[in-house]
Amino acid sequence: MKKLTVDYSKTFINLDEKEILSMQEEINLCHDALHGKTGEGAFFTGWLNLPNEYDKAEMERVKKAAKKIQENSEVLVVIGIGGSYLGAKAAIDILSESFLNDRKGMPEIIFAGNSISSTYLNKVYNYVKDKDFSVNVISKSGTTTEPAIAFRLFKELLEEKYGKNGAKDRIFATTDKSRGALKAMAEKEGYETFIIPDDVGGRYSVLTPVGMLPIAVCGVDIDEIMEGAKAAFNDYLRPDLKSNDCYKYAACRNALYRKGKTTEIMVNYEPSFMFFAEWWKQLYGESEGKGKKGLFPASALFSTDLHSIGQYIQDGLRIMFETVINIDLSEADMSIKEDADNLDNLNYLAGKSIDYINKKAFWGAVLAHNDGGVPAIIINVPQVSPYYFGYMVYFFEKACAISGYMLGVNPFDQPGVEAYKNNMFALLGKPGYENEKEILKKRL
Ligand code: PA5
Repeated sequence: MKKLTVDYSKTFINLDEKEILSMQEEINLCHDALHGKTGEGAFFTGWLNLPNEYDKAEMERVKKAAKKIQENSEVLVVIGIGGSYLGAKAAIDILSESFLNDRKGMPEIIFAGNSISSTYLNKVYNYVKDKDFSVNVISKSGTTTEPAIAFRLFKELLEEKYGKNGAKDRIFATTDKSRGALKAMAEKEGYETFIIPDDVGGRYSVLTPVGMLPIAVCGVDIDEIMEGAKAAFNDYLRPDLKSNDCYKYAACRNALYRKGKTTEIMVNYEPSFMFFAEWWKQLYGESEGKGKKGLFPASALFSTDLHSIGQYIQDGLRIMFETVINIDLSEADMSIKEDADNLDNLNYLAGKSIDYINKKAFWGAVLAHNDGGVPAIIINVPQVSPYYFGYMVYFFEKACAISGYMLGVNPFDQPGVEAYKNNMFALLGKPGYENEKEILKKRL
């Protein structure tokens, strides 16, 4: 199988190869800290060996549960937020058919509990209420408010429709093995439960049942995903910057950051990768944005966004660089035909494939943005498949951990997420937050 490759030659407007390779010593230290489990947050590095050490019996249970859901449900409502939904959403968008009718009777996947929008919840509720549906509720802590609210609504609806026992058969809980309200509820009610390993944090959990159950329900081969992750595990075992493309990416983005390129834009040319960028943004944003430092992760879908924020990238503040995902071999293609009238003046493209044109747009944008002072790291992915999805997940997870260590932050915690929760709890009058409520009320 071909490897994913990183081309950093289009960063040479700000860097040169020598500069990147001179970071080898720093990379070695970060690699040793990660693999030796001596770095900050070392307890949460269970994802590192996951492609080799994942619980095979648990994965078989995931496949069995997926089959059962495929057989008895038109819809699977996946309830989770942040790391408990973005990976599955990314995989499903990339790997399953775009249009419902092409999905050959597979259940439709609807995500909920990733916001507190009453409008959205109402719409999902009304959409599923007369359909056969199941619920996969996912929360590592088991106490997150957004999914807890959604779960209460859909659990009640399932119980109304199917009775308590029937509902129990349609609820699948993915959570911690012993802690949290969701675990306690699952035990009491007898839901089938899948475990998120203790040492795998939310945003590093897509290769656990968190991602695997919803993905398997779509008919995607999850063994292939794990195979791809395992290949990446093997490819990135040695820290040598010349051969380790994952570390090349980590070094390059840090080198650019140190030169004032503080915003990284992930650019995709495939619309189905929109949520892959969302997953990446969460992974990098929550891992690195700490202690008043960190690269700001943004995303753009080209060529769509070349007609919107493309202007800013070309000509706005010079604080950014691009990380462009290039899919070498497109999944499907078609060609432009000769037209006798040529009223649209497109005959110069006759015989060319759409993907060929897309690739020219890609190079045109990379070079134009280079001319505008925006360097680009190009990540070449051989093709779109479950194998390469798993490979990319592992690539970005490992690069994130190494990058975080290079920045000098703990890439495995997220203390900043608590601030809004505390305010929300106080404003909602949650017991224990009485003092904060009074203080906040004066500020409103
Ligand atoms: O990466 C993380 O840890 C977070 O984004 C969590 O995934 C998110 O906050 C959801 O947490 P939980 O799974 O505990 O409900």
